[in-house]
Amino acid sequence: MSSKPEAFLCSACGNTELRWVGRCPSCDQWNTLVEVGAVLESSGEQPHVVQEVSVSESLPYSTGLAEVDRVLGGGLIPGSVTLVAGTPGVGKSTMCLHAAVNVGSHGVSTLVIAAEESESQVAARARRLGSLSEHVSLMATASLGDALRVVSETTAKVVVVDSVSTMVDQSLRSPSGGVTQVRAAAEQLAAIARKRGIALVLVGHVTKDGDIAGPRALEHLVDTVVYIEGDRHHQRRVVTTTKHRFGPSGEVGLLEMGPQGLTSIDDPSAALVAERGPALPGSVATVLAEGTRPLVVEIQALVTPAVGTPARVAQGVSATRLRQLAAVLDAHCDVGLVRADLFVACSGAVRATEPAVDLAVIAAALSAFQGHALDPGVVCIGEVGLTGSIKGVAGITRRLEEAARVGLVTAVAPPGSTAPEGMRLISVATVAELLDALVSLRDTKSDTTKRPL
Ligand code: TYD
Ligand code: MG
Repeated sequence: MSSKPEAFLCSACGNTELRWVGRCPSCDQWNTLVEVGAVLESSGEQPHVVQEVSVSESLPYSTGLAEVDRVLGGGLIPGSVTLVAGTPGVGKSTMCLHAAVNVGSHGVSTLVIAAEESESQVAARARRLGSLSEHVSLMATASLGDALRVVSETTAKVVVVDSVSTMVDQSLRSPSGGVTQVRAAAEQLAAIARKRGIALVLVGHVTKDGDIAGPRALEHLVDTVVYIEGDRHHQRRVVTTTKHRFGPSGEVGLLEMGPQGLTSIDDPSAALVAERGPALPGSVATVLAEGTRPLVVEIQALVTPAVGTPARVAQGVSATRLRQLAAVLDAHCDVGLVRADLFVACSGAVRATEPAVDLAVIAAALSAFQGHALDPGVVCIGEVGLTGSIKGVAGITRRLEEAARVGLVTAVAPPGSTAPEGMRLISVATVAELLDALVSLRDTKSDTTKRPL
């Protein structure tokens, strides 16, 4: 069977049509459809009895960065395709070079295909990251044809393509960096890598508004999607996976960018607690548990008189959730927040999107609104319902243990929670109870530093 019906792919959004149309029905862009090759083409492959299929038991290749390895579930898996996505300048190339240098230092050959920098630029950077071995090879090209040839001939076990967004397939008449080009490059490179048992790492750019330009269309083609986030003007980098076919998803890794490249932060909770400044209104600690490791973070809130429609601005927390929590406060606490702008952020470039952070968001907003700093030893954990009730969250004991480990001494949590020995537990069942509890939790050492609204 080898039929070859025509297909047309939109180079702007990746939509496929069976006939050419001037305007893409999916994204409404004009003249973006380009013809792509065979949709159904058979290689003659036949099914195999499961028992007879050999199972690869190869160990993952460590990247040399403990925090990246934990997010990947050990490292890069032979025969798998990993997409490393992030905004320009965040550290994608650096992270991949670390991995290549580390794998090479263990005697495993590695190849870096650089499509954005010259060989000498990459070599200079690689030298700064670690001692180079003869097992690391470099090739600077943006031609997909060259890359495919090299990957199909190489003896390397790990191949990095930096970046897949800049690879150009001369046979396609679509613009470089567009969905058609990026998808063609990823598909073909992935097919060879899987067949040859190579751990392939593709670097993909993400635009400032969070979309993976082009590579969003790649998420389903790859086995693992690793995001690297952080402000390029600060050292902190946060690594997470949004998809992981071979390991845990949702793990969070914390790293720092320095003169010698990236380094793992050994104890992220302790580091985030140490970064907290003096006790100030609007600061409350909470504990995230998205992955297997609990992580103590600081929620910060700022409340100012609204000019016009009150704003609710969320950074690192869910914007929808913040609007809902502000409405709950208005409805159940009658504190007058309805006429104020509310800004809430999670510190340390970490995303606190779990409902378990609700209680800390509300406590931070109330602390900011009233101008009273909370005792810095307080941690708030709990989900807040629309009725103003505070609900239990998964893994509360593990979270409180982590808080206690880094020196937090008082927990505000839903009824039924268990705190570790030595930690004071204040149960709150409603936001009104929280409001009362906060009075006794004010920091007595620092005077009210801010005038309440
Ligand atoms: P880079 O890995 O090139 O980012 P990306 O590939 O995501 O665009 O690194 C970006 C920034 O990191 C760059 O501005 C320089 C800085 N950097 C360091 O601070 N230390 C280092 O050792 C390296 C290699 C880069
Ligand atoms: Mg780069």
